[in-house]
Amino acid sequence: MTQQHSRPQWWHDAVIYQIYPRSFMDANGDGIGDLNGIIQRLDYLANLGVDALWLSPFYRSPQADAGYDVADYRDVDPLFGTLEDFDSMLSGAHERGMRIIVDIVPNHTSSEHVWFQEALASSSGSRERARYMFREGRGEHGEQPPNNWQSVFGGPAWTQVPGEREWYLHLFDTRQPDLDWRNPEVLEEFDNVLRFWLERGVDGFRIDVAHGMIKVPELPDWDGSQEMIEGGNRGPMWDQEEVHEIYRRWNRVLTEFGRDRMMVAEAWVHPPARTARYVRSDEMQQAFNFDYLLTPWDADKLRRVIDTSLESYSAVGAPTTWVMSNHDSVRHASRLGLSHPGQRPNGIDADGEQPDEALGLRRARALIMLTLALPGSAYLYQGEELGLPDHTTMPARYRQDPTFHRTNGEQIGRDGCRVPLPWRADAPAFGFNTTGERWLPQPESYARYSADRQLEDADSTLELYRRLLAMRHEYGLGHGELVWQESSRSDVLSLTNGGVTLVLNLGETPVALPEGQVALQSATDAISHGQLAGNAAVWLTTP
Ligand code: NOJ
Repeated sequence: MTQQHSRPQWWHDAVIYQIYPRSFMDANGDGIGDLNGIIQRLDYLANLGVDALWLSPFYRSPQADAGYDVADYRDVDPLFGTLEDFDSMLSGAHERGMRIIVDIVPNHTSSEHVWFQEALASSSGSRERARYMFREGRGEHGEQPPNNWQSVFGGPAWTQVPGEREWYLHLFDTRQPDLDWRNPEVLEEFDNVLRFWLERGVDGFRIDVAHGMIKVPELPDWDGSQEMIEGGNRGPMWDQEEVHEIYRRWNRVLTEFGRDRMMVAEAWVHPPARTARYVRSDEMQQAFNFDYLLTPWDADKLRRVIDTSLESYSAVGAPTTWVMSNHDSVRHASRLGLSHPGQRPNGIDADGEQPDEALGLRRARALIMLTLALPGSAYLYQGEELGLPDHTTMPARYRQDPTFHRTNGEQIGRDGCRVPLPWRADAPAFGFNTTGERWLPQPESYARYSADRQLEDADSTLELYRRLLAMRHEYGLGHGELVWQESSRSDVLSLTNGGVTLVLNLGETPVALPEGQVALQSATDAISHGQLAGNAAVWLTTP
C-alpha cells in the first residue's frame, strides 16, 4: 500500500479489530477457528467498517497458552491452516482496504521450539542455553529456585531441569521459557522473523509482553505484585530502561520496508506517561491504553484518563489508543454489569457475582459511543460489535487457561472471554462451523447475540457499531480535536469533536440534552422529551 505523505500515518486514526483466530470462524469444522474461516468473514468485517485486523497468534505451537507459546515463528500451525492460507487472507483483507497486524511473542518461546529443545540437550554454559535464562538453583544441590519470582499465571517462575542444578525462567507457563534478550543471537533472529512477515506484506505487529523482555541482570528477589499497580509495575522483570533499545532496533527494521508499517505495544505499565515511552518517535507507533480499559463507570475518572492519555501520548507525537476489551480481560459488556464495574475480575464463574446482562449491554452500547467519539485509534475485540458478554458459568472441566490450572482454580482465568462467536442463531455451535464442534462451550444466551439476527435488526448492537464507524469516518473524528463541554451533572460527560457532540449519561436519572440534531443513540429509549436517559449516550450534530 502506498503512503500518503500529506496525511497522518494510517494508524493515527485507525479502528483495529482484534481477531482471536481460535474463536472467530471455523471453516474446517474441527472446533477451532482458522484462517479460511477469517477469509469467509472478510466481507462482514469490511461492511462493519474497520480499518485493520490484528490477529492473535496462529503460528506453530503446542497451544499450551492458546498459541502464545510459539514453536516456529515462520509457519502457520496446521490447526489454523497454511502459509498459503495466510497469504490469501492477507490479500483478501488488502483488497477490501483493511490492513493486517500480526502478533509477535518475543519474551518467550514454546518449550517445543527447536532452540529450547537444543538447550535442554546441551550442557550448562553452552551457547544453546545462553539463548534462554538458565541459572543454578540455590541450596547445596541447587534444589531451590534461583530467586523467588512468581509466574504471572501463578506458581514459581522457575522450573528445574531434571537431574540438574540448573533451572530456567518462565514468567508465564512452564512451557513458555523466557529468552535472554541480551544475547545478540536472539536479537538477530527476531529481526529476521519481523522481516519474514514484512516481506509477506503485513502492515504491523502487536508486541506481546513488550515491557518484560529485559530483566535486571542480577535477577534479585522481588515480592511485588505481578499485576499492574498504582505508581507503575516496576519489578526487576518489568519496564526496564534497556528494553527500549530493542524497539529502536525494530523501528529501523520496519523502515527497511518504508514508513507505513507499525508496532503496537502490549505493555501493562502505568501511568500513561510511562507507557508513552514505548511510542517515542524512534520506537513503536502505538501502545494499548489499558488505563482506559481499567477505568470504572465513573464520569470524572473517565474524563481524567482521557485527558491524561491524550496529553501523555501527544507529548511524544504518538496517537492515543482506546481499548475496552481483549482476550485477556472479562468482556466490558459483562464487567459493566457488575456492582463494581471498575474492577478487572480475573474471569467470572458460577460461584461469583453474575453480571446484570441487560445493564452491562446497555452501558457497553453507551461506552462505544464515547470511545468512537474520541480522537486517536480504537481497538475492538471480536464479538463486542455483537454486544457479547463473557461465558460466566463455564464449568471448570472445560477451562483451558493455564492461569486456572496453575492456581488450582483460584484464578478463574480468561476462557470466558474467548468463547467461539455466534454467527447464526439456529445452527450447530451457533454457526461457528457446520459440525457443532467447539473448543469451548458457548452459553445458550449467545443465540440472542448471533450476527445473523443482528444483521436484520436496525436497532441491534451490530448496526449501532456499523453506523458509528461510518459516521466516525465521515466526520474524521479519529483525527479531530476533543473539546469538553461542561455539564451541570457530575455523572454526565459531554464533548465535541469536529461536528459531533457526544453526551454520555453514566447516572440513572435523565439529563437535558443540548441543542443539536440526534444522529445516533445508544438505545431506542435513550431520548424522551429532550432528555437523555440513564446509562445511555447520544451523538448530536449541529443543524
Ligand atoms: C499476553 C497475551 O495477551 C496473553 O494472552 C498471554 O497469555 C501472555 N501475554 C503470555 O504470552
